[in-house]
Amino acid sequence: MPRRVKVRVPATSANMGPGFDCLGMSLCLYNEVTAEVLDGPGLEIQITGQGAQSLPRNAHNLLYQTMESFSKSVGKQLPGLRLTLHNDIPSTRGLGSSATTIVAGLAIANELLSTGKTRDDLLQMATEMEGHSDNVAPAILGGIVIAGYDPTGNQVLFKRFTLPKSVHAIVAIPTFEVSTDQSRAALPDVIPRLDAVFNVCQVGMMMAALATGDFLTFAQFANDRLHEPYRLPLMPGADGAIAAARSAGANCVTLSGSGPTLLALCESDGDVTGRDRIDSIMSAFHSSLTTASMSVQVLQLDPDLTGFVIES
Ligand code: HSE
Repeated sequence: MPRRVKVRVPATSANMGPGFDCLGMSLCLYNEVTAEVLDGPGLEIQITGQGAQSLPRNAHNLLYQTMESFSKSVGKQLPGLRLTLHNDIPSTRGLGSSATTIVAGLAIANELLSTGKTRDDLLQMATEMEGHSDNVAPAILGGIVIAGYDPTGNQVLFKRFTLPKSVHAIVAIPTFEVSTDQSRAALPDVIPRLDAVFNVCQVGMMMAALATGDFLTFAQFANDRLHEPYRLPLMPGADGAIAAARSAGANCVTLSGSGPTLLALCESDGDVTGRDRIDSIMSAFHSSLTTASMSVQVLQLDPDLTGFVIES
């Protein structure tokens, strides 16, 4: 058994407009966990960064609970542990922080217990724990992933894509929190058929575009009628910020996961015009949301291509 394992897991942006609960991408912002085996039994948890004031430092911690579930499922016992967490991903903002924790817990337990599970195995377990695949799949695999249960409901299948290197992501992260449960409660149980047909077409076109590396078509179809129309009213200034970012050159703007973060994607070759476009989108987000009295952090977070990374 290794005595020390470190894992780094990326943030994710789920749904990407119409791909509710099945489509997401990973982003270059990370939480890191180091697990060290103690000489005897026990649990020590240290947390720095996001959530340092609020996350539990005992057996109720989601990371430890995930590790315990993993160890039970493989019929092994966890050793005494010191877990050191450093979180750069803000929690309850729509950047997949809880999925990150689940993925970190599974990946670390898999290494510590030398159980040899593959990324695909971990995806099955993580999806069952999270309830949907759109954050855990890109956190495990990197890139853009569409994933969901096969028709028997027993196995998660996925397709992974990457965007062209010229595509950049910009996120506007409001300081207020929206829990996924609260944001899901705003959704209707029944939606009009026309809206369902609209979303089917958008996702189909996005997938066809990803398969051929056609970012502009992908972005053109990143529109949603299943969840965004019900969630955006929970976020003052969001409609204005989306319009402002589009006018500033964003190819698409979506609610990130269940919000309140907004995700913009734009194409830029790194030339002066491209850099100007990124800066314009960042300032459009910032000024429109602060005008709506929202406190917000705006970051350029490019796509992550690797998913979680283990260092033993
Ligand atoms: N697909 C999920 C939702 C992502 O939109 O509720 C947030 O966990």
